[in-house]
Amino acid sequence: MSFCVVLIYASLLCGANGNVLLTTISNIGDSFGRLSDSIVGSVVTVPTNLTTSIADGFSEIQFILMSSDEGHSSCKVGDAPTLLKNARFNESLPTAFFIHGYLDGQDSESLIAVSGAFVRKGSHNIIAVDWSEYSGFPYLSAFSNLPGASRTIGDALSRMVVAGLPAENIWLIGHSLGAQMTGVVAQNVDFRFQRITGLDPAGPGFGIAGVASLTRDAAALVEVVHTDAGSLGTEDASGHIDIWPNKGKAVQPGCLFSVDEDTFCSHARAFIYLAEAVEHPDAFPAVRCASWNAFRRGECPVNGTNVVYLGYSQPDQNEPGNYFMNTNRAAPFGRGLQGVAVSA
Ligand SMILES: *[C@@H]1O[C@H](CO)[C@@H](O)[C@H](O)[C@H]1NC(C)=O
Ligand SMILES: *[C@@H]1O[C@H](CO)[C@@H](O)[C@H](O)[C@H]1NC(C)=O
Ligand SMILES: *[C@@H]1O[C@H](CO)[C@@H](O)[C@H](O)[C@H]1NC(C)=O
Repeated sequence: MSFCVVLIYASLLCGANGNVLLTTISNIGDSFGRLSDSIVGSVVTVPTNLTTSIADGFSEIQFILMSSDEGHSSCKVGDAPTLLKNARFNESLPTAFFIHGYLDGQDSESLIAVSGAFVRKGSHNIIAVDWSEYSGFPYLSAFSNLPGASRTIGDALSRMVVAGLPAENIWLIGHSLGAQMTGVVAQNVDFRFQRITGLDPAGPGFGIAGVASLTRDAAALVEVVHTDAGSLGTEDASGHIDIWPNKGKAVQPGCLFSVDEDTFCSHARAFIYLAEAVEHPDAFPAVRCASWNAFRRGECPVNGTNVVYLGYSQPDQNEPGNYFMNTNRAAPFGRGLQGVAVSA
């Protein structure tokens, strides 16, 4: 089974000053020719004017404090510090934030999987950032909104820290476009993040000079999980710790015949693995190795100093680099140390 990829090239003229916004847009459909409404694009030139002029109005972004009793507490981004006074906010716990990707929102699988895992685990307050008002179709629009939305989210986080949220206890997590966004949020806060996890950071439009993205400068520890590298996800190793389950690319195990999950299956695995890891910290050890092929050849046996656990790597203990593992085809995906065994 192969995916049908249709490329549509479009060029748009934007702005009175004649900036040309040239985009490559690809519609990705599944093998039955059913076009999903997903559009990925890469922007060659982003006029600063466009990104600046739409940076102002991002007040509809919502921060949602997720909780186990069904009644989540949400507020507009401008009121984010009020969540710290919410009865559902536990001051003795660290706080994780999750930013969803393109086309996603409050009801999307990524947000529900990740926040659900944290709620069940009870280890963190979990605040989901809903920027669906600005992350919708087409990709170019969501992509162009990213800098302004990131500034607005960064400002809210800074105000939460001023209001008493301990900066050192914040774990920022994002998927896809939301993962690239975490890096831009980090450029727009008054403090330094200790931990950021980027889940298959979006590929299209990134890795281009002048386009801000998630890099290892964003936090003391930047961990990146790649599951659809070279397609919807970036191929760039952009963290201190880059984890490449099953080579980090499509087709992730179990995705091949998963037609209902369509083309997002491999891209989605990044948040599915993290959600499982939150509840099962030992599930996803990964071993540092020069390459996937070297890992497959058994050149990187586990020796006690070359293993990180997805979601639990430590900035002071773990060597930067590329880490590999195998997973199962279905839940539970984590194979523990079997996933990094030489015979894997
Ligand atoms: C945007 O472009 C217009 C027209 O060229 C110019 O007058 C304006 O100063 C620009 N705005 C910014 C923020 O660069
Ligand atoms: C807050 O978290 C602490 C530490 O896990 C826990 O002992 C306490 O019961 C929690 N408080 C509430 C109100 O859930
Ligand atoms: C552990 O393995 C890594 C490669 O995966 C190697 O660089 C390192 O030297 C090994 N350490 C020990 C103590 O054998």
